[in-house]
Amino acid sequence: MSRAKRKIEHIHHALEHDRDYYNHFDDIDIVHQSLAKLNFDELSLSVEAGELKLSSPLFINAMTGGGGERTEQINGEIALAASETGIGMAVGSQMSALKDPAERNSYEIVRKNNPDGIIFANVGSEASVSQANEAIEMIEADGLQIHVNTLQELIMPEGDRNFKTRMENIQRIVEGVSQPVIVKEVGFGMSKESVECLWNLGVRYVDIGGRGGTNFSKVENLRREKPFSSFENWGIPTPISVLEAKSIHKDLHIIASGGIRHGVDGVKAMVLGGEAFGMAGTLLRVLLQDGRQALISEVEHILHEVKMALMLMNARSTKELHRQPYVLSGKTREWQEQRM
Ligand code: FNR
Repeated sequence: MSRAKRKIEHIHHALEHDRDYYNHFDDIDIVHQSLAKLNFDELSLSVEAGELKLSSPLFINAMTGGGGERTEQINGEIALAASETGIGMAVGSQMSALKDPAERNSYEIVRKNNPDGIIFANVGSEASVSQANEAIEMIEADGLQIHVNTLQELIMPEGDRNFKTRMENIQRIVEGVSQPVIVKEVGFGMSKESVECLWNLGVRYVDIGGRGGTNFSKVENLRREKPFSSFENWGIPTPISVLEAKSIHKDLHIIASGGIRHGVDGVKAMVLGGEAFGMAGTLLRVLLQDGRQALISEVEHILHEVKMALMLMNARSTKELHRQPYVLSGKTREWQEQRM
């Protein structure tokens, strides 16, 4: 099978696999405030997380690495939708374009279609410092995501098996690029031990990429003759991973992603400690099923939901979400009691 065809099959598997029956966002109740005191039109969605400045906490997370015409087309559409709505976006892994310059078009289109937007580059933790800088230059990126996806690699027959140099490599990239570096999981979540290790390497931004949405165990298992089905429930659900990360350091910038279904899930992630939230599979599904206008209207709907939630908590801005009361139940509470 050609690589382009394999990528399309990959997208299909990512969007169509069955979702977890238990959603840990349902374990969080935000406390509703009846007596609204603010003006909806004056609420602020802008985010300042360290050096990252976003016009809204929602951004479209990394997808469709791998190059090819289809990647270029999807990236181009996502970039136009991000530009129209003013939200940030990340591109999928640029490793293929770093190895084969013919693939650069699939990524350069993003900056062409979204000249003024906030865009994150994306590389694997095996990238060299010069590759990391090249990925940034390729799309004039405002930040760099380094994805870590150990379980996905282990399930892929052709995946990496040796991670002995990963830590020092991440440290070299953090020290060697001038834009903010976000270390990002792809749907298995980060533990406080992992986050502490990253903190000690100098990492100040993590996208905890938790379990609950797109599940790369399921995606990769669909390509295996003998699947590792026992790992399909592996990983740390997103709200729990935010709590784990928050316990490490008050100056760590936490981005939440993984299984965020709508604005209220995004708000819950921020009440727990996230400063922004990324959505991937849910938004790609809208784009592929109903087109760019539908994606734009979905993004606007989600931003409206966030503002409604701010109003109902008397929070003037997303920054004030961190002070809001909430109640935890179910598995998330058990996890918090035993780990935090
Ligand atoms: C991804 N994701 C991803 N992440 C990354 O860092 N580099 C990549 O190249 C890709 N590629 C990719 C392709 C497709 C089709 C999907 C759906 C996702 C992972 C993505 O950014 C995110 O971490 C996970 O999908 C979890 O978020 P959702 O989908 O549950 O919102």
